[in-house]
Amino acid sequence: MSVAANPRKLIARPVARLEGKVRAPGDKSVSHRALMFGGMALGETAITGLLTGEDVLCTAAAMQALGARVVREDGVWRVRGFGVGGGQEPADVLDLGNSGTSARLLSGILASHRFTSFMTGDGSLRKRPMQRVIDPLSRMGARFEAREGGRMPLAIVGTDEMVPIEYTLPVASAQVKSCILLAGLNTAGETTVIEPEATRDHTERMLRHFGAEVRVAPADNRGKRITVVGWPELKARDIVVPGDPSSAAFAVVAAAVKPGSDVLVENVGVNPLRAGLYTTLKEMGADLTFENQREVGGEPVADLHVKGGVLKGIEVPPERAPTMIDEYPILAVAAACAEGTTRMLGLAELRAKESDRLSSVAAGLAANGVRHEMGADFLVVYGDGKAPAGGGLVKTHLDHRIAMAFLVLGLAAREAVAVDDGSPIDTSFPGFAALMNGLGAKIEDA
Ligand code: S3P
Repeated sequence: MSVAANPRKLIARPVARLEGKVRAPGDKSVSHRALMFGGMALGETAITGLLTGEDVLCTAAAMQALGARVVREDGVWRVRGFGVGGGQEPADVLDLGNSGTSARLLSGILASHRFTSFMTGDGSLRKRPMQRVIDPLSRMGARFEAREGGRMPLAIVGTDEMVPIEYTLPVASAQVKSCILLAGLNTAGETTVIEPEATRDHTERMLRHFGAEVRVAPADNRGKRITVVGWPELKARDIVVPGDPSSAAFAVVAAAVKPGSDVLVENVGVNPLRAGLYTTLKEMGADLTFENQREVGGEPVADLHVKGGVLKGIEVPPERAPTMIDEYPILAVAAACAEGTTRMLGLAELRAKESDRLSSVAAGLAANGVRHEMGADFLVVYGDGKAPAGGGLVKTHLDHRIAMAFLVLGLAAREAVAVDDGSPIDTSFPGFAALMNGLGAKIEDA
């Protein structure tokens, strides 16, 4: 089992209700892309609202190692790019910490440069599958050396003579899609990705914003066919990063399951390919409204107003998974507080996240007296509409979302819930405990 350098045990104590107004931190997916695309554009890109979580800082450092200039002035990040294909050979191994998005997306950039580069990460990232990017990038002409099973550390022998491909994704993954599209930027001709299930489209939206030609057409069923035309001149563009719906989810669920709560989470991205949790919560009977709907930086944004109540169990269909893939840990917590049975289907990909999230969630539920059933790709949670027992110590396995989800369970349970290591929370949500405590939560060092 992996152990963080400085594990930090945290405990969340039961509270009666949550109340107040908070602002969601910047979207992690959009923040990574803003730094990468700004780093490949000519001119200076100014980014406001960038998430300063550890994952995003890993991307910033990697882009600097490739030759981009990245500075932070008065809260605005300024990136001066090196142009498509103009990156320099990184002088050292790129350490991407806990960040799968950095590893997968950067591999597309690195593989399409004529140099050899190396990447590694923490104990969690070194267990995660990289074969899913090695396969398509090898077809395009890059070569790789990896540990058993395509795990990091990874050596990438890149080429600037990549061959354009048409590739059907074997798993619904925005990271793999984005990796191929990024490699396609420095490839002559047209590179096409076919996704059987539509996944988050921040890459497509933002590449267009920077001036690339990206064509999207419907494919079979719910899928899409996405084509990028190689060698565009990416031009610096300012970016405003919306709030992260995956981070907002913790405050929203904490309020939704505590009757008497009244919470407004401002500035939340509600891109339909990210908002599956909110659809699900409404189906469960949550009193949740999208106020002040608007566009921020080309993404739909709203203020989420949630009032507490008793949710009811529902079935969450497998086709919804790509739109809420990071939200199942917190949905499981909502389900534990709900009345009736919640069935979550199509969850195989959860096993490839920062931890085997299906097993981590099931173990956390077991530690806190929540009746449930786990299968290869499903989770069923049995709620009785009363506060769950709680009282457990949850292993987070270097997984930020397991830590945050079970701390929310502690707010709603009959007994306090502890997590063995809350330090990974800083990868995506620095200030999580302070923000929650500002709403009336009791989360502290244990
Ligand atoms: C992400 C895509 C998802 C998600 C991750 C961020 C992205 O991963 O889980 O947190 O920014 O593209 P997969 O593409 O592996 O599903």
